[in-house]
Amino acid sequence: VWAENLIIGLERRTRRSAPPYHRQVFTQIRDAILGGTLRAGDRLPASRELARSLRLARNTVARAYEDLLAGGYIEGRVGSGSYVMADLDLPRTTEPRLKPAPASRSAEAGRARAAAHGSSPAIRIDFRPGISDWEAFPRRLWLRLIGRALRANAAELRRYGEPGGYHPLREAIARHLAISRGVSALAGQVVICNGSQQALDLIARLCLRPGDRAALEDPGYPEARQVLGRGSRPLFVPVDEDGMDVAALERMTHGRPAPRLVYLTPSHQFPTGAVLPLSRRLALLGWAARRDVLVVEDDYDSELRTPGRIVESMQGLDRARKVIYIGTFSTVLFPPLRVGYLVLPPEWTERFLQAKWLADRQTATLDQLALTAFLQEGHFERHLRAMRRLVAGRREAMRAAIESDLGGIMEASGSSLGMHVMVRAGRSAPAERAADLEQRIVAAAASRGVAVYPVGPCWSRRPRYATFLLGYAALDEDLIREGVKQLARAAGEALGRGAGRAGAGRR
Ligand SMILES: Cc1ncc(COP(=O)(O)O)c(C=O)c1O
Repeated sequence: VWAENLIIGLERRTRRSAPPYHRQVFTQIRDAILGGTLRAGDRLPASRELARSLRLARNTVARAYEDLLAGGYIEGRVGSGSYVMADLDLPRTTEPRLKPAPASRSAEAGRARAAAHGSSPAIRIDFRPGISDWEAFPRRLWLRLIGRALRANAAELRRYGEPGGYHPLREAIARHLAISRGVSALAGQVVICNGSQQALDLIARLCLRPGDRAALEDPGYPEARQVLGRGSRPLFVPVDEDGMDVAALERMTHGRPAPRLVYLTPSHQFPTGAVLPLSRRLALLGWAARRDVLVVEDDYDSELRTPGRIVESMQGLDRARKVIYIGTFSTVLFPPLRVGYLVLPPEWTERFLQAKWLADRQTATLDQLALTAFLQEGHFERHLRAMRRLVAGRREAMRAAIESDLGGIMEASGSSLGMHVMVRAGRSAPAERAADLEQRIVAAAASRGVAVYPVGPCWSRRPRYATFLLGYAALDEDLIREGVKQLARAAGEALGRGAGRAGAGRR
């Protein structure tokens, strides 16, 4: 780092007690080095420049630098200036000037989850759900599209874009959703967001007032629960093998004020993998229309299912304009792209556009331009076909591996769609024991280089079974088989029954 802009505050020597200027400069640079603000190899400003900016004589600064040199804090390199000494072995005793505020528990939990997103180097096989295969992403093509956008779209790149997104992208998404998901919307109802997570955040800000109730799946997507539950009172609706229990929701709200919204993942319930049948979809839409409730449909991974097994979106079935549809490019392209979208009932669009503008103006234009070409020129469809084939092969490898290695130890559910499967330890246990068992299995798997993700955080209460999510879309088939073998051994150890069917011993 070139510490050209290092801030040095001088105490003017109107009072006798203020130290001489060369001493003040020395002390502040020394403290910056000891405190870690300046690090080994950082370049100090030239003494002439620093003197000018501090309005001191050059000799004064030169004297301070000589003292730093003599003290071993800095070294001079002939012809190129002064640098913080490279091999300083500093005792880190100086308190940082800005101490972080004490963290709240939920902020800590959020950070723990964020940390879990980047797995530790010892993890060789990471079953994190929701991650697509970066190796399968057509990077050269993307580079070409970015380059082309940079050369050709000067006007769009010179100014802020629309808060709702680049119009041709909104059109391309509306068209894609009409064809593949039965979504019925004009481009103007599509709002591009930074991933579906921002879509949830905007919904929480705009659709929920303090004290409102938000109906949520139980178990459900923890990140939705944290955002939508922030200002509202959650109403947890049970999930069974067909997804959200809509009859239970009707019973729970009968004769009471209706919730303001209901959030669900109907096409591939997160985490169970259930698909909400048509009868329940229609019942939910009828209830929402009667009770004036917004339905937030998170359609996060339905692009990856096999054609023929596609269920139409709830947005496409809705006649009362109650559905807010959320989609994302995270699952089929790559998550750090941070492009997702909302499809809104027309009367809500203006409010969302204003909120998006105030939140962060717009989603990055360059990415939107490349993505537009990706969609318009048929690359997206081609990529989807390739991904569906790839993921179907991995899904089958996962199914077979679970059957051969985890059978008798864990049961799988929701394995026929999407990019993750849920596995549950066969024996139930008292709730504390199940949570403890989850942690022990996570640790035992991690010690074998395998990361698995407990379902505990998806529940409003503590579950009775140790249950895990295994995402497989980013792993090749050999790694999937190897990972499941190691999980079987880890689970066998933690369950205290030897090594299960997978055989004993660590590789
Ligand atoms: C239910 C659900 N929604 C959305 C997402 C994607 O979030 P984003 O679009 O913010 O990357 C995921 C990813 O795991 C998910 O599981």
